[in-house]
Amino acid sequence: MQVVIAESTTQVGLLAARKVAQVIRRRADAVIGLATGSSPLAIYAELARQVAEGELDCSTLRAFALDEYVGLPPGHPESYRQVIQREVVEPLRLTPGLVHVPDGSAADVAAACTAYEQKLAQTGPVDIQILGIGSNGHIGFNEPTSSFASRTRIKTLAPKTRADNARFFSSLDEVPIHCLTQGLATILDARELVLVAQGAKKAEAVAKMVEGPVTSMCPGSALQFHPNATVIIDADAASRLTLTEYYRYSYDNLPDWQRFD
Ligand code: F6R
Repeated sequence: MQVVIAESTTQVGLLAARKVAQVIRRRADAVIGLATGSSPLAIYAELARQVAEGELDCSTLRAFALDEYVGLPPGHPESYRQVIQREVVEPLRLTPGLVHVPDGSAADVAAACTAYEQKLAQTGPVDIQILGIGSNGHIGFNEPTSSFASRTRIKTLAPKTRADNARFFSSLDEVPIHCLTQGLATILDARELVLVAQGAKKAEAVAKMVEGPVTSMCPGSALQFHPNATVIIDADAASRLTLTEYYRYSYDNLPDWQRFD
């Protein structure tokens, strides 16, 4: 795992966007894994800038969302389908038919999960998966004690996650209790992972993910199994790590072919 402690919070998004843009420039029909929530917004904003200025073309990209709430009415502005439409598809000028989100309003959610895995298997592997991390260590919506062998399925959101995400809704009661999420094994199938985290609220989860034991109590620790995972964080999110000097030294001495800054 490569840990990059960015010079500023703004730099987190810029560096991660450069990594994603490198993949898109190598392959115009790359498969991109999309996270929602606040953490990746700066990545999407920077990619959108590159698209607007003619530096990047995302029109032939294929994309898969990590997760979706269950039970929100179709078209709800906080459903991840809508969030991705607003934050990613429109600003990056993706082709809507090439963007997939688990169907959280399906009558048969188990069948919807199987169909999602099948679509991923036909289209994938994902070339680069963008990730955030929950304050309880979740990635996607794989809450603590999720199986490392898990695939897309229904999960119950942890009370902590519902409380953290209540800021997007008018009250805690409106936050769905269930979600569909790619499993940890699904996420680990991606060729490359880039996880971003900002702020002191993420410091404990980041420390457990990077330096703690691999344990389902911190689903993010699954990244330790991935051969090509990059964690890009600001100083506050890095504040509970012990090997910060080594991470900085290692990044400063990256061989040219590995650089993305
Ligand atoms: C969202 C997702 C979640 C978020 C995590 C952090 O698609 O997969 O794992 O990345 O909950 O959320 P923010 O970025 O809002 O702090």
